[in-house]
Formats: sequence, structure tokens, C-alpha cells
Amino acid sequence: NYSWKDKYDSLFKVVLIGDTGVGKSNLLDHFTYNEFDLESKRTIGMEFATFSIQVNGKTIKTHMWDSAGQKHNCTITTAYYWGAEGMLLVHSITKHLTYENVEYWLKELGYHADSNIIIMLVDNKSDLCHLWAVSTDKTHSLTENNLCFIQTSALESTTVEEAFRNVLTEIY
Ligand code: GTP
Ligand code: MG
Repeated sequence: NYSWKDKYDSLFKVVLIGDTGVGKSNLLDHFTYNEFDLESKRTIGMEFATFSIQVNGKTIKTHMWDSAGQKHNCTITTAYYWGAEGMLLVHSITKHLTYENVEYWLKELGYHADSNIIIMLVDNKSDLCHLWAVSTDKTHSLTENNLCFIQTSALESTTVEEAFRNVLTEIY
């Protein structure tokens, strides 16, 4: 029994990565339900979301994986990255440490992820520009090694859709 919802041309897995509190879950909730929560709780374990979008007239179905932004044990890490075609590597423009840790996450995915994975570096919380703590130059130096890059705000819904859409278009 197929419904129109089940029909798609490609199925992708995309994971959200980044320190705790940078806004991964809010970006996902904003994209899937158009919701933002100023007091959201940190993610426990893992959460999943599924959605379909149209790219060049084709239906792309996506499984998003969202986990707590802390170091995982090895079994979970392996499962998390396994088979992922894309990732949103999120940090917050208000916290320099979350930017420093981008290198940690890149190293981790170097061990666990497919070498062809599409990585989108996401500078989140761009609405808090008065608390800006990471210079755009620094972000650009990271993006030299073939990372795509976008600035977002889950609160003001700035370019959240583009972030997800661009990574899927790149995979496709
Ligand atoms: P973990 O699940 O612990 O890894 O955190 P997370 O990365 O999922 O962060 P989460 O989405 O729960 O957001 C953490 C806090 O930042 C919440 O209080 C959000 O309301 C806030 N937040 C998220 N995105 C934005 C944003 O774009 N702008 C502002 N001002 N606050 C944001
Ligand atoms: Mg979360």
C-alpha cells in the first residue's frame, strides 16, 4: 500500500554535528516544523526527522539525525556517521570555543565518515550580532578545504532552509 508520501527518487542520510547549545535541534525543528524554542532542552541520545524536498524536479527524501553535542562512545559514533551522505557542522557565532571545536568534529568525522561526505559549515545565531565572537575571516580559512559555508539564525529563520537545501543539492 503506497501513498504519495512514500514515493521518492533518492534517499539520503544527513547528520547534525556540533557542540552542545549551538542550535542544532532548533535548526532542525525550524526546518521541519517551522518552530523555534528559546528554552529548548538539550538533546538526550538521538532524535530523527524525515522530510522530502524537490531538487531539479526530483523528490529527495532525507533522514536527519540529531544527537547531543557531546563526545559519544564509539559504538554510537560509528552508527551515527555510518552511511551519511551529508552533514551540517554547526557552531555558534557567539562562542569562540564552539568554533575551535569545529576542528575536533572534523577530525572525528575523518575517522568515522565516508570521505565523500558533503560538509556544510553552519555559523548559527547570526541574530546575536552584538555578541559576535568569531571573525568571519577565521571561518573562511576553514572553508578553504572544500567545506560549504552558510550563516544562519534559527530564531530569525535566516537562511535555515537554504542550509538544508544546499547540502541536499550538493549531495544530489
Ligand atoms: P544539544 O542538543 O545539547 O547538543 O544542543 P543543540 O545544538 O541542539 O542546541 P539547541 O537547538 O537546543 O539550542 C540551544 C539554545 O540556543 C536554545 O536556548 C535555543 O533557543 C538557542 N538558539 C538556537 N538557535 C538560535 C539562534 O539562531 N539564535 C538565538 N538567539 N538563539 C538560538
Ligand atoms: Mg539538540
